[in-house]
Amino acid sequence: MPQRHRYTQDAWKVDPTMSAQPRKVAICNQKGGVGKTATTLGLASALADAGWHTLVVDMDPQCNATKGLGVSVDSEMRTTYDLMTAMAEGRAADAIVATDWDKVDLIPAHQTLANIESDGANDLIFRLDVAFEGVDLSPYSAVLFDCPPSLGKILFAVLCACDGVLAVTEPTIDSVDGVENLRETIQNVKKRPNPRLELDKIVLSRKRRTGEHIFRENELRETYGDVVARTGIPELAARQDAHSSRTPIHLFTGGKATALRVAYSDLLQELTFEKTGVAV
Ligand SMILES: Nc1ncnc2c1ncn2[C@@H]1O[C@H](COP(=O)(O)OP(=O)(O)OP(=O)(O)O)[C@@H](O)[C@H]1O
Ligand SMILES: [Mg+2]
Repeated sequence: MPQRHRYTQDAWKVDPTMSAQPRKVAICNQKGGVGKTATTLGLASALADAGWHTLVVDMDPQCNATKGLGVSVDSEMRTTYDLMTAMAEGRAADAIVATDWDKVDLIPAHQTLANIESDGANDLIFRLDVAFEGVDLSPYSAVLFDCPPSLGKILFAVLCACDGVLAVTEPTIDSVDGVENLRETIQNVKKRPNPRLELDKIVLSRKRRTGEHIFRENELRETYGDVVARTGIPELAARQDAHSSRTPIHLFTGGKATALRVAYSDLLQELTFEKTGVAV
C-alpha cells in the first residue's frame, strides 16, 4: 500500500512523519470574481491527481464550489449554514458528503448562509471552529475553505477556524488593494482570537500578458516578496468550460486545459514543499 502523506498543521508541506490533522486553509479575497472558487477546485483537482484526498468547505452563499463539484443540496443534508447557527462541537462531521469528483469530499453551502451576516450573536465567529472540534480530518491532505467575496462575519468565522490563508488576486489595481485589506484583517485576527493564522501565499489568478497585469504583478512581488506564489494561474477559457461541465481540470481535455493543469499542480508543489507564512 502506498505511504499516505499528510500536511502538518504548521506548514503546507508533505510530511511522511504525518501530523494527524491536515492544514485548514482559507481561500479568500473580498473582491468578487478573482478566482477563489477556481483556485479551490483547481487545487482539489491537483491534489486528487497526486493521489491525495481533499475536503472542500463551501462558505459562500452563492454555492459555486458546491455546484462545481456536482452536489445538489437536499433537505436531508447539513450545510455550512447549519455549522454557523449554534455552538455545536463536532457538528461538521455529519455535514461531509461525497462529490462527483474522485477523492474530493464537501461540506456544501446553501443560500441561507447569507442570513448569518445579520446574526448579532457574540459567539458567531467561533461557531465554525467549534463545529470542527474533535472531528477526525486525518483522511484528508488538506481542508480548503472557499470564501465569499466580503470581509464580513462569515470570513471572520473562517479565519478563526483556519491555520493558513491563500489570498487570491487578479493583477489589477483594485485587487491589489484588496490584498492589503485582507492582510490587515489577518493581522487583526492573528492578534486575537487566532494566533496560529498565517498568510501562506498570495496567488495571482486570471493572469494575462497585458501591460497592466505585468505591472501589477511586479508591484505585488516587490511589495510582498516570496509570499507571492511563483506560479500564477493564466486566464484561459478552458477554466470556465471545465467548471460548466463540473469536471476536474486534470480530467478535462478541451482547449488549453494542459496549461491550467500544469499551473495548479505547480502551485500545489510550491505550497506543499515550502513554508512561507509571514509574520503579519
Ligand atoms: N484562470 C481562469 N481563466 C479563465 N476564467 C477563469 C479563471 N479563473 C476563474 N475564471 C472564471 O472567472 C469567473 C470568476 O471565477 P471564480 O468564480 O473562481 O471567482 P471567485 O473569486 O470565486 O468569485 P466570487 O467572489 O463571486 O466567489 C468564473 O466564471 C470562472 O470560471
Ligand atoms: Mg467563489
